Amino acid sequence: MQTPGGWPGNLWLEGATLVHLPAEQPRPEARPRGPAKRIGPGFLNPAMAPARTRSVMLLADALEHDWLVPQGAPIRVLDALCSTGVRIRRWRQELPEHHIGRVVLTGNDLDAHALDWAMASFEAHPSGRPTASRPEHRQRAVKPREVEGVHFTQEDARVALLRGGWQWVDLDPFGSPMPFLDAALQGMARRGVLEVTATDTAALTGSSAASGRRRYGFHGMVDHYAHDDAVRVLLANVALAAARQDREITPLMALFDGHHVRVSVMVRTSKNGASAVHDRIGWRIREHDVPYRFVQHPTPEETERGSGPMWTGPLWHAGIAGRMTEARALALVRPKAGMVEGWRNQGLVWGDDDEEHAARETKRGVRHIAEAAGIMAMDGHATTLLNLDDLPRWTGTGRTPRLQHLIDALHAAGHAAARAPDLNPFIVTDAPFDAVVQTAQQM
Ligand SMILES: C[S@@+](CC[C@H](N)C(=O)[O-])C[C@H]1O[C@@H](n2cnc3c(N)ncnc32)[C@H](O)[C@@H]1O
Repeated sequence: MQTPGGWPGNLWLEGATLVHLPAEQPRPEARPRGPAKRIGPGFLNPAMAPARTRSVMLLADALEHDWLVPQGAPIRVLDALCSTGVRIRRWRQELPEHHIGRVVLTGNDLDAHALDWAMASFEAHPSGRPTASRPEHRQRAVKPREVEGVHFTQEDARVALLRGGWQWVDLDPFGSPMPFLDAALQGMARRGVLEVTATDTAALTGSSAASGRRRYGFHGMVDHYAHDDAVRVLLANVALAAARQDREITPLMALFDGHHVRVSVMVRTSKNGASAVHDRIGWRIREHDVPYRFVQHPTPEETERGSGPMWTGPLWHAGIAGRMTEARALALVRPKAGMVEGWRNQGLVWGDDDEEHAARETKRGVRHIAEAAGIMAMDGHATTLLNLDDLPRWTGTGRTPRLQHLIDALHAAGHAAARAPDLNPFIVTDAPFDAVVQTAQQM
């Protein structure tokens, strides 16, 4: 293996995994947010750490609760644009010891430097955990590089995806995932999980109308629903691409997280499911009697005050999202006793305050998810999402109730209600909208 230029850079801890940052990359802040300035190949975006944490949690959940493959069976995983392999290294390091031997990992990227960096990181810090046995590889012009049972390939992601048989695919490109979507779906087994990141949020929120229309066929409206729209627009595009291949999707988790959208869906081969895709696609029409309604076929007048088309079905899976608790995140991805001490001896600069910040960020990455899971798993037609700051306009009281007080009052009235995970104060509930207004007026 070639030592990559700039190696070893600086040590950093993400989750319970020691990573090497390029020397030119500044030490991540305590609360990294947004699209950090890319400083060249091998750059690690610390703001994506919570998304990688949820990725570890989701795969751990599939392994422990047997919802993807039969108990004990292996799962073939491809990180199609893996860069320096941090997600793969986190899976290797942080998935439950009991199951790690079932996870057959492949990382792919076009960038030679990033792959060298990934290999060097693995070799410098082997997890020492059981490796999966993998079936003999089909003949290839270029043999994959292998470390700790993980294969690394340097191909266009579409070529890697089309090699096929993947039961878990991660798509994390710069910008839009659309150029890779068809190949990803084509390369999936009859049943698999597809995780897709999109960082072109201007297109998905409607703030860049032309690119939204061009890439996603989306007519947007920039208001308090722009984040939820972005998630639903990406889901609709995944669902429609899947339907073209006789596959149906079931969303497991879908979030707008600051500067990116990430959706995780189960994909299954099903002609009937694929044919029904349009039942779950529609428009969000802003209304006078309620904040919005989902409508399948809007009139021209309605499209003027609407955004769409978008996914109107459930956004999450109740059971899976319900297990994404702060306690679970901490137990899975924070270093076990004694680990940090060992890494400090290898040169990691990591104080108690770093550990405290990291634990806080870990919790933040899943905050409000488990509590909202049951409601986010309902059909969009059955729930209302409301930014609390919009409420006085509807109640006419001129007052904004405390979010938790409103949730408690709705619970007391027999409704489901929770805070939706967003930086802004959103409530999501199954209560009819007039009941929300009445409850708020009585507070
Ligand atoms: C956003 S980064 C991936 C970050 C990575 N998933 C992580 O969590 O650290 C996107 C990567 O896609 C790679 N890339 C861009 N176009 C590609 C293509 N057509 N095929 C394979 N890799 C590609 C880039 O080299 C880059 O490393």
